[in-house]
Amino acid sequence: MKFEVLITGGSIRVPPYVAAPYCTVALLSDEKRMVLIEPGSFPAWEALERSFKEKGLKAEDITDLVISHVHMDHIFCSIFFKNAVVHVHEKYIERNYSSFGPIAGLFYPMVLNSWREVHPIKDGDVLFDCVKVFHTPYHSSDHVSLLIQTENMGRVFMPGDICYSRIEYFEYMKGYKKDDVAKFLKTISKDCDWIVFTHDLPMKVVG
Ligand code: NI
Repeated sequence: MKFEVLITGGSIRVPPYVAAPYCTVALLSDEKRMVLIEPGSFPAWEALERSFKEKGLKAEDITDLVISHVHMDHIFCSIFFKNAVVHVHEKYIERNYSSFGPIAGLFYPMVLNSWREVHPIKDGDVLFDCVKVFHTPYHSSDHVSLLIQTENMGRVFMPGDICYSRIEYFEYMKGYKKDDVAKFLKTISKDCDWIVFTHDLPMKVVG
Protein backbone atom coordinates (compact mmCIF):
# COMPACT_ATOMS: atom_id res chain seq x y z
CA MET A 1 0.00 0.00 0.00
CA LYS A 2 1.07 3.58 -0.56
CA PHE A 3 2.12 5.54 2.52
CA GLU A 4 2.03 9.30 2.96
CA VAL A 5 2.26 11.60 5.93
CA LEU A 6 -0.70 14.00 5.95
CA ILE A 7 0.22 15.93 9.10
CA THR A 8 3.50 16.01 10.95
CA GLY A 9 2.79 15.86 14.67
CA GLY A 10 4.07 18.32 17.22
CA SER A 11 3.08 20.08 20.39
CA ILE A 12 1.84 23.56 21.20
CA ARG A 13 2.87 24.95 24.57
CA VAL A 14 1.71 28.21 26.04
CA PRO A 15 3.01 28.39 29.60
CA PRO A 16 1.83 28.20 32.28
CA TYR A 17 -1.40 26.32 31.50
CA VAL A 18 -1.78 25.22 27.92
CA ALA A 19 -0.17 22.15 26.41
CA ALA A 20 -1.71 20.84 23.21
CA PRO A 21 0.15 17.92 21.69
CA TYR A 22 -1.10 16.53 18.38
CA CYS A 23 0.15 13.41 16.67
CA THR A 24 1.34 12.65 13.16
CA VAL A 25 -1.40 11.49 10.80
CA ALA A 26 -0.53 9.19 7.88
CA LEU A 27 -2.59 7.71 5.06
CA LEU A 28 -2.03 4.13 3.90
CA SER A 29 -4.05 3.36 0.81
CA ASP A 30 -4.70 1.07 -2.13
CA GLU A 31 -7.73 0.46 -4.38
CA LYS A 32 -9.55 -1.32 -1.56
CA ARG A 33 -8.75 0.66 1.58
CA MET A 34 -8.09 4.13 2.92
CA VAL A 35 -6.42 3.71 6.29
CA LEU A 36 -5.53 6.58 8.59
CA ILE A 37 -2.66 5.71 10.84
CA GLU A 38 -3.84 7.71 13.76
CA PRO A 39 -6.78 10.04 13.25
CA GLY A 40 -5.01 12.82 15.16
CA SER A 41 -5.93 15.52 17.60
CA PHE A 42 -8.02 18.65 17.92
CA PRO A 43 -5.26 21.27 17.27
CA ALA A 44 -4.62 19.63 13.89
CA TRP A 45 -8.18 19.22 12.62
CA GLU A 46 -7.90 22.17 10.23
CA ALA A 47 -4.63 20.84 8.83
CA LEU A 48 -6.39 17.52 8.29
CA GLU A 49 -9.24 19.35 6.56
CA ARG A 50 -6.78 21.06 4.22
CA SER A 51 -5.05 17.80 3.43
CA PHE A 52 -8.36 16.02 2.73
CA LYS A 53 -9.46 18.86 0.39
CA GLU A 54 -6.17 18.74 -1.53
CA LYS A 55 -6.53 15.01 -2.06
CA GLY A 56 -10.25 15.08 -2.78
CA LEU A 57 -10.90 12.84 0.22
CA LYS A 58 -14.06 12.73 2.28
CA ALA A 59 -14.31 11.58 5.90
CA GLU A 60 -16.63 8.74 4.85
CA ASP A 61 -13.95 7.38 2.47
CA ILE A 62 -11.80 6.29 5.40
CA THR A 63 -12.25 2.54 5.87
CA ASP A 64 -9.90 1.96 8.82
CA LEU A 65 -8.17 3.75 11.66
CA VAL A 66 -5.07 2.36 13.35
CA ILE A 67 -4.46 3.78 16.84
CA SER A 68 -1.07 3.56 18.57
CA HIS A 69 -2.71 4.02 21.98
CA VAL A 70 -5.73 5.65 23.53
CA HIS A 71 -4.53 9.13 24.42
CA MET A 72 -6.62 12.08 23.27
CA ASP A 73 -3.84 13.62 21.16
CA HIS A 74 -4.02 10.46 19.01
CA ILE A 75 -7.73 9.64 18.95
CA PHE A 76 -9.78 12.84 19.05
CA CYS A 77 -10.39 13.12 15.28
CA SER A 78 -11.67 9.52 15.18
CA ILE A 79 -15.14 11.01 15.83
CA PHE A 80 -15.26 12.18 12.19
CA PHE A 81 -14.68 8.80 10.52
CA LYS A 82 -18.00 7.05 10.99
CA ASN A 83 -17.39 4.28 8.43
CA ALA A 84 -14.02 3.24 9.78
CA VAL A 85 -13.12 0.07 11.65
CA VAL A 86 -10.87 1.06 14.56
CA HIS A 87 -7.81 -1.14 15.08
CA VAL A 88 -6.57 -0.70 18.65
CA HIS A 89 -4.71 -2.92 21.12
CA GLU A 90 -7.02 -5.23 23.07
CA LYS A 91 -5.86 -3.76 26.42
CA TYR A 92 -7.60 -0.47 25.64
CA ILE A 93 -10.87 -1.86 26.98
CA GLU A 94 -9.39 -2.58 30.42
CA ARG A 95 -8.22 0.94 31.10
CA ASN A 96 -10.06 3.02 33.67
CA TYR A 97 -10.75 6.24 31.77
CA SER A 98 -12.77 7.79 34.61
CA SER A 99 -9.54 7.87 36.64
CA PHE A 100 -8.04 10.23 34.02
CA GLY A 101 -9.83 13.14 35.71
CA PRO A 102 -13.13 14.98 36.11
CA ILE A 103 -13.15 16.29 32.52
CA ALA A 104 -11.07 13.61 30.78
CA GLY A 105 -13.22 10.95 32.45
CA LEU A 106 -16.17 12.30 30.44
CA PHE A 107 -14.22 13.17 27.32
CA TYR A 108 -12.70 9.74 26.68
CA PRO A 109 -16.01 7.79 26.72
CA MET A 110 -17.52 10.38 24.34
CA VAL A 111 -14.85 9.65 21.76
CA LEU A 112 -14.66 5.88 22.39
CA ASN A 113 -18.45 5.51 22.15
CA SER A 114 -18.38 7.12 18.70
CA TRP A 115 -16.52 4.10 17.29
CA ARG A 116 -18.76 1.98 15.07
CA GLU A 117 -16.61 -1.14 15.06
CA VAL A 118 -13.48 -2.06 16.97
CA HIS A 119 -10.98 -4.67 15.84
CA PRO A 120 -8.79 -5.54 18.86
CA ILE A 121 -5.16 -6.11 17.90
CA LYS A 122 -2.23 -7.73 19.69
CA ASP A 123 1.50 -8.32 19.41
CA GLY A 124 2.49 -10.07 16.19
CA ASP A 125 -0.69 -9.25 14.26
CA VAL A 126 -0.33 -8.17 10.64
CA LEU A 127 -2.95 -5.75 9.32
CA PHE A 128 -3.81 -5.41 5.61
CA ASP A 129 -0.91 -7.80 4.79
CA CYS A 130 1.62 -5.03 5.41
CA VAL A 131 1.38 -3.53 8.92
CA LYS A 132 3.18 -5.52 11.61
CA VAL A 133 2.03 -4.81 15.17
CA PHE A 134 4.39 -4.78 18.17
CA HIS A 135 2.92 -4.45 21.67
CA THR A 136 5.18 -1.87 23.35
CA PRO A 137 3.52 -1.10 26.71
CA TYR A 138 6.21 1.35 27.89
CA HIS A 139 4.09 4.48 27.42
CA SER A 140 0.64 3.05 28.22
CA SER A 141 -0.60 -0.53 28.68
CA ASP A 142 -2.34 -0.51 25.27
CA HIS A 143 0.55 1.02 23.31
CA VAL A 144 1.66 -0.47 19.98
CA SER A 145 4.46 0.32 17.53
CA LEU A 146 4.13 -0.45 13.83
CA LEU A 147 6.42 -1.60 11.05
CA ILE A 148 4.86 -1.07 7.63
CA GLN A 149 5.99 -2.54 4.34
CA THR A 150 4.99 0.19 1.87
CA GLU A 151 5.00 0.41 -1.92
CA ASN A 152 6.65 3.80 -2.08
CA MET A 153 8.83 4.35 1.02
CA GLY A 154 10.23 0.90 1.79
CA ARG A 155 9.85 -0.17 5.41
CA VAL A 156 8.34 2.54 7.58
CA PHE A 157 8.78 2.24 11.35
CA MET A 158 6.29 4.09 13.56
CA PRO A 159 7.51 3.68 17.16
CA GLY A 160 4.62 5.74 18.60
CA ASP A 161 4.98 7.64 21.86
CA ILE A 162 7.68 5.34 23.25
CA CYS A 163 10.01 7.50 21.15
CA TYR A 164 8.12 10.50 19.81
CA SER A 165 10.90 12.77 18.51
CA ARG A 166 14.25 12.76 16.75
CA ILE A 167 16.03 14.00 19.88
CA GLU A 168 14.62 11.14 21.90
CA TYR A 169 15.66 8.72 19.17
CA PHE A 170 19.25 9.95 19.20
CA GLU A 171 19.36 9.76 23.00
CA TYR A 172 18.44 6.10 22.71
CA MET A 173 20.83 5.38 19.85
CA LYS A 174 23.76 7.06 21.60
CA GLY A 175 23.13 4.96 24.70
CA TYR A 176 21.98 7.74 27.07
CA LYS A 177 18.96 5.57 27.79
CA LYS A 178 19.40 1.84 28.21
CA ASP A 179 16.07 0.14 28.73
CA ASP A 180 13.62 -2.12 26.92
CA VAL A 181 12.65 0.75 24.62
CA ALA A 182 16.30 1.19 23.61
CA LYS A 183 16.62 -2.51 22.78
CA PHE A 184 13.43 -2.51 20.75
CA LEU A 185 14.31 0.68 18.83
CA LYS A 186 17.79 -0.57 17.98
CA THR A 187 16.46 -3.90 16.69
CA ILE A 188 13.73 -2.49 14.47
CA SER A 189 15.50 0.62 13.23
CA LYS A 190 18.37 -1.52 11.86
CA ASP A 191 15.93 -2.87 9.35
CA CYS A 192 13.80 0.07 8.21
CA ASP A 193 14.02 2.90 5.67
CA TRP A 194 12.06 5.61 7.45
CA ILE A 195 11.12 6.40 11.03
CA VAL A 196 7.88 8.33 11.30
CA PHE A 197 7.67 9.97 14.72
CA THR A 198 4.40 10.83 16.46
CA HIS A 199 5.47 14.36 17.43
CA ASP A 200 8.28 15.29 15.04
CA LEU A 201 9.33 15.23 11.38
CA PRO A 202 9.85 11.84 9.75
CA MET A 203 13.46 10.73 9.34
CA LYS A 204 15.13 8.72 6.58
CA VAL A 205 17.35 6.04 8.03
CA VAL A 206 20.81 6.13 6.46
CA GLY A 207 22.17 2.61 6.61
NI1 NI B 1 0.58 9.29 24.52
